[in-house]
Amino acid sequence: SRYSRITGTGSYLPPRRVTNADLTAELAVQGVETSDEWIVERTGIRARHFAAPDVTTSDLAAHAARHAMEAAGCGPADIDLIIVATSTPDMVFPSAACILQNKLGIAGCPAFDVQAVCSGFVYALTVADAMIKTGSARRALVVGSEVFSRILDFKDRTTCVLFGDGAGAVVLEASETPGILATELHADGKHVGILCVPGTVAGGKVLGDPFLKMDGQAVFKLAVGVLEDAARATLAKAGRTDADIDWLIPHQANIRIMQGTAKKLKLPLDKLVVTVDQHGNTSAASIPLALDAAVRQGKVRKGDTLMLEGVGGGFTWGAVLLDF
Ligand code: ACO
Repeated sequence: SRYSRITGTGSYLPPRRVTNADLTAELAVQGVETSDEWIVERTGIRARHFAAPDVTTSDLAAHAARHAMEAAGCGPADIDLIIVATSTPDMVFPSAACILQNKLGIAGCPAFDVQAVCSGFVYALTVADAMIKTGSARRALVVGSEVFSRILDFKDRTTCVLFGDGAGAVVLEASETPGILATELHADGKHVGILCVPGTVAGGKVLGDPFLKMDGQAVFKLAVGVLEDAARATLAKAGRTDADIDWLIPHQANIRIMQGTAKKLKLPLDKLVVTVDQHGNTSAASIPLALDAAVRQGKVRKGDTLMLEGVGGGFTWGAVLLDF
């Protein structure tokens, strides 16, 4: 049988690092009041990175993709599928994946975006795994890349302190051994209103509100339960148990949600990979950014069993269980 396996990881953060103190000072100028204490206590976030105005999702993605290919020992010409998970693409169309493909100097292989907001990377990895298993691809570049700073309303303190920009990538290859053990995806569109950017482009202008809106408490209430269910579903499919998980690598939105999920899976907190403190919530980029950080810190090693899971706008949620 045929499986897919991650053979390299990479990531990229734009250089401008904004601490809670920096952001608090910038917001104060506009009369928006927040504090390092509030942000740390409610979210665990201490700093985030913001891309320069002329830097796009595909720019961040290209850096992360090159790092992942280097780690996998392959080059752009070896890639036969590109999937980018993003909700902040460079353009309405074409996809960030097509623009990335051109930036990497390759042509011909399929390239497309997956839009599932903060669950985007888990969605993209699931699609790439399925395409490799059916023989449509042998070596995929799966990227999560976002510039959420572009859709933040810096007059709304309940959301603008939470998000950051960045990109993470993996090379996923056909393999005789697993690899990805099980995947689980869900969506429930009745929750559109609790987390959305309601505006769109039409008639030569932006129609509606172009900024992110979130009912944080409603998101919080839904998140922990659905994440546990998705994680348990992948364990059941793979015939594994909580005790088999070496590392939990959740979407990095809020430390309290992440710790809540770890507790439900009976995992000690030292098995939880945390980057939200340094990255903020980078939406579809957060899981591959956290994975790459853990790999480069020597935490995640070859053979470790990883639980990746995410929840985001849509509502969407899902999990991927894999042997690294
Ligand atoms: N600084 C200071 N005070 C603030 C700020 C801020 N940045 N933001 C809100 N407050 C105030 C509020 O006005 C409110 O004041 P009030 O009591 O006088 O009305 C008070 O703080 C409490 O606000 P709550 O909204 O109740 O705060 P809560 O404890 O729920 O924390 C948070 C808010 C952090 C957003 C939390 O609900 C959360 O993390 N929710 C989940 C969000 C999430 O994970 N989203 C991402 C998943 S999907 C995705 O990633 C796209």
